[in-house]
Amino acid sequence: MKNIGFIGMGNMAQDMVSGFIASGNVDGKSMYGFAPNQEKLAKNCKNLGINPCATVEVLVDTCDTIFIACKPYQIDDIIAQLGEKLENKSLASVAAGWNFKRFREVLPEKAKIQCTMPNSPVSVSKGVILVEEDHDWDLEERKALLRLMESVGKVVELPDRLMKAGMAISGCGPAFMDMIIEALGDAAVKNGIQRKQAYELVCQTMIGSAELQLQTGIHPGQLKDNVCSPGGTSIKGVAALEEAGLRSAFIKAIDAVVKE
Ligand SMILES: NC(=O)c1ccc[n+]([C@@H]2O[C@H](COP(=O)([O-])OP(=O)(O)OC[C@H]3O[C@@H](n4cnc5c(N)ncnc54)[C@H](OP(=O)(O)O)[C@@H]3O)[C@@H](O)[C@H]2O)c1
Repeated sequence: MKNIGFIGMGNMAQDMVSGFIASGNVDGKSMYGFAPNQEKLAKNCKNLGINPCATVEVLVDTCDTIFIACKPYQIDDIIAQLGEKLENKSLASVAAGWNFKRFREVLPEKAKIQCTMPNSPVSVSKGVILVEEDHDWDLEERKALLRLMESVGKVVELPDRLMKAGMAISGCGPAFMDMIIEALGDAAVKNGIQRKQAYELVCQTMIGSAELQLQTGIHPGQLKDNVCSPGGTSIKGVAALEEAGLRSAFIKAIDAVVKE
């Protein structure tokens, strides 16, 4: 993996570049970005310390590993424009709605493709990166890609039939978690705690509870029971959440994404 390119330098590409650089595994000098708005691209690339490309063709000529990080509906046109230039390139898509099978229908035969689905916490090296099992990358090269991905989060390989459900949890999940942080933060502020301290309390509680479950493997229901003493305060809060339909709200949210 010599030069790494990004077709599209929006939120996700910038999150990934930030994470890769922070991990110390990739130097900004070996990363390149392309986006149509050259002024915005120059500013973003300067902030990140990577190289802007004047055209997508220059990026493809310069890089051997290329992340497709534009909007999903733009991909057909970009592939048609690049055509044979993509031959012998290793492409990694982060686009929602595109899987290995769909790429194979439009890519030149000799272009290799691996579909992935990172989430926004990759920018602070705490992401989840879903990786589709089907791919046609060389195995050693794919191992290097997964190592790079592991430097910014947890890599989870899934068959295509489960990618959408996985994406609903880890791809959309940050938005759901942010809603919880905001809601609990509001509740803390309502009860007199300063806003900054409120978010610290909520976020650290979220991180700690998740870490406790991951490290112990104890069923989350058991962990909840452990802090709910009979007639105590926690169980009163749990009862209020059940009455408000918390569990069914989350199940409905994931179903809504999966059915989309
Ligand atoms: N955001 C997330 O949390 C997230 C999570 C997982 C996966 N993804 C995937 O990441 C991809 C990008 O999403 P995003 O949120 O980063 O979107 P975004 O912030 O809107 O960025 C889109 C980028 O694509 C560029 N672009 C537009 N037309 C292009 C073209 N013809 N050729 C090359 N680049 C072009 C845009 O450039 P200009 O600004 O110059 O128009 C911009 O840099 C999507 O496929 C999405 O499914 C996103």
